[in-house]
Amino acid sequence: MAKTLVKNIGRLQTPIGNYSHKGDAQGENKKIDNTWILIEGEIITAIGEDNNIPSNLSDVDKEIDAFGGLVTPGLVDGHTHLIFSGFRQNEIVLKLKGASYLDILRSGGGILDTVRHTRKASAKELYIQAEEAVTEIMYSGVTTMEAKSGYGLDFDNEIKMLNVIKDLNENTKMSIVPTFMGAHAIPPEYEGKADDFIEMLCEEVMPYVKENELAKYCDIFCENSVFNVKQSERYLGKAKELGLGLRIHADEIEAIGGSKLAGEMKTSSAEHLISIDEEGLAAMAKGGTTAMCLPGTSFYLGVKFAPVREMIERNIPVAIATDYNPGSCPSFNLQFIMTLGYLKYRMTPEEILTAVTINPACALGMGKEIGTIEVGKRADLVIWDAPDMEMLCYRFGTDLAMNVIKKGVEIE
Ligand code: NIG
Ligand code: FE
Repeated sequence: MAKTLVKNIGRLQTPIGNYSHKGDAQGENKKIDNTWILIEGEIITAIGEDNNIPSNLSDVDKEIDAFGGLVTPGLVDGHTHLIFSGFRQNEIVLKLKGASYLDILRSGGGILDTVRHTRKASAKELYIQAEEAVTEIMYSGVTTMEAKSGYGLDFDNEIKMLNVIKDLNENTKMSIVPTFMGAHAIPPEYEGKADDFIEMLCEEVMPYVKENELAKYCDIFCENSVFNVKQSERYLGKAKELGLGLRIHADEIEAIGGSKLAGEMKTSSAEHLISIDEEGLAAMAKGGTTAMCLPGTSFYLGVKFAPVREMIERNIPVAIATDYNPGSCPSFNLQFIMTLGYLKYRMTPEEILTAVTINPACALGMGKEIGTIEVGKRADLVIWDAPDMEMLCYRFGTDLAMNVIKKGVEIE
């Protein structure tokens, strides 16, 4: 088995453990200065406490020099709409004229515009566009990401999207966790018949998705003018019955009860939570649901930011992610999202590291394998051209990932 030594690490910084970190633990990171990591095959097998490398490590097959930089676990982007055709730059002008996100959707644009393009695109076209994004995402330090369907909104096109995710997972170095999000919007053929659409998804698409192992999670957009709480409960209830994991876009624009449902159903995560209310906070804390907060979306939509300090105080584990999609966050730059976490959520650099590593890893059911730098975990690591986490949160717009190591191998 190939032995690789990562040497000259200026600072190793990582959360510890296989579980989601909440409250004070959200900000607990282990820091070791002047150290090294030994990797055997895909797995971390030893971590130094100082720069003195034991003599029995002289027989390694490869040495990677960190040049005194910071080393963290590979980042985890826990929420993306990676697969789509058609960016929506035209909406900028509509927004400048005062149209809101839901105004654009209600007039048949927004998500439905992307649905029209995605339905027309072949699987190959979708694959090529997403593969380019994945390559760039990986170079930026993300080694695991979630990806949703949701721009097909019918059997064939949702399955087409999920198959593209499967192919990307098999053929690129990125680990991609697939989520079925057929309930992302009401397609034109079901206008005024949202209940029937949900039934179709539950009875026709979801069982096929499960049987063919095309998704690990199901997600729904619970929002005014989209799907209500009752429809969300039916959809997530069916997912649970089939043994799929649950997540929910909740309180992105209005608090209609989505986060309360998330807590009650103990979903793995609830997404956005910009407008979360007291009931939602209490339910999520009780249910142990991770808050998947998406500050790039608040930034791009020009709306308020989720109350993350309150969530941490209330013992809700917090993850932050990009929400990469053509409508509400056309950026997949997780390092910029970290800056927003710091400036807009007022999170500390330690809390932020937890929010982009172990917490999303746990929300994706992968906390045992990834998300921290510990002996026995998978060697997904980033060497940064920065001395500390403070620098990463501060230098937005400059990609500081110097060297990305995936399953023990450097990404060329
Ligand atoms: O998470 N709000 C629902 N879904 C995405 C946006 C999708 C789009 O506008 O294309 C989100 O913000
Ligand atoms: Fe989203």
